[in-house]
Amino acid sequence: MSDGDTWKVRRRLLTPAFHFDILKQYVSVYNREATEMISKLLETTKRGQIFEMFQEASMCTLETILQCAFSGGQMSDETKNEYVEAIRKLEILFIEMVFNPIFIVAPSAYKRLPRGREYTRLCKFVHNTSELIIAKRRQQLMRDGRPQQTTGRLDFLDLLLSARYEDGTGLTDLEIREEVDTFMFAGHDTTASSLSWTLYSLAQHPHHQDKVREEVNYLLSGREDDTIQWEDLQKLPYLTMCLKEAMRLHSPLALIERKMLEDTVIDGVTVPKGYDVAIHLYGLHHNPAVWGPDHMEFDPSRFRPERMKDRDSHAFLPFSAGQRNCIGQNFAMNEVKVLLARLIYKFVFEVDPTRPAKKEVLIIMNTKDGMWMKATPV
Ligand code: HEM
Repeated sequence: MSDGDTWKVRRRLLTPAFHFDILKQYVSVYNREATEMISKLLETTKRGQIFEMFQEASMCTLETILQCAFSGGQMSDETKNEYVEAIRKLEILFIEMVFNPIFIVAPSAYKRLPRGREYTRLCKFVHNTSELIIAKRRQQLMRDGRPQQTTGRLDFLDLLLSARYEDGTGLTDLEIREEVDTFMFAGHDTTASSLSWTLYSLAQHPHHQDKVREEVNYLLSGREDDTIQWEDLQKLPYLTMCLKEAMRLHSPLALIERKMLEDTVIDGVTVPKGYDVAIHLYGLHHNPAVWGPDHMEFDPSRFRPERMKDRDSHAFLPFSAGQRNCIGQNFAMNEVKVLLARLIYKFVFEVDPTRPAKKEVLIIMNTKDGMWMKATPV
């Protein structure tokens, strides 16, 4: 939520953490977490059980961001579960809160109501989790020295801890915690949503799922193991089209907001300075004038290069655009591609026909009563 110079300085500081040379090293982490998820699903399917995709995906992407951005930041499975659950509840409570007239008129009175108190309690838990990760890393650094000497690279948390402003001072504890909070949340929930909804669409459309599997089989044929390498990420065009189409159809982040810094005329309407404006990415991705009357259909061919070339570059904005766009977009695309390729190579996914997923727009595109699916080993 930071803006102005605060945002600019921190964004500049963090951008190197997303350089291609750094991202390359994360492919092995994505593979490790894919292997972990595969063995969990194998256990579930042995018992012939239907499983809840969103929870599995969230646990996997949370561990991935901990490994990649937070120097491994160990968290027990129990705390991860609690964290994922807390974020979901916070999203529900946040949406309720901002539309509640009591909150709008008297935010401090709202905070004293049961829902407000629950919101504060969950915020504290999430903040404490971040503080614990930071404290552990500080201790580790004091014990083992600077990261270049140990792991050979500065990850996101190390960058925050070692950053200096021009006057030589470092970021305050609160500043570091705010950034860790953002990345913990932004770095796992959105990717979990993208992975889950893509698998859901592929489960609904076995024909497209088979084509993705053929592509991955071809890529991995003759290899001794099924890990996806950095160079492979460019060799999965059909999988990438399916991922983009799922991100259009389901829009993992449905809405973003901006404050007007000056009076602005949009389509003949003056939006005054100081107004908050919501930009409806889900609506943008379902504009029939751009996507046609069948915009509710899952059709990966929309992302064939020949169909994309005449489309406005701002018609598809899952990661927003401009200077406040998503800093983690390459990280996210790589991660989801590896997970999709590894999972589809190992399993055939089907939806549970008795429990179709119902969309629930929280901060991210979630589901109302879970996303129940079946995975059968190939
Ligand atoms: C498929 C997954 C993801 C989607 C769909 C997504 C989407 C977005 C969008 C739409 C924004 C712009 C928000 C706005 O304009 O108000 C954004 C910003 C941001 N995202 Fe992502 N994101 C994803 C993954 C990630 C990952 C993996 C990370 C970190 C590793 C991340 C970190 C951030 C941060 C820090 C911002 C704020 C950037 C700024 O204001 O300078 N995101 N994301």
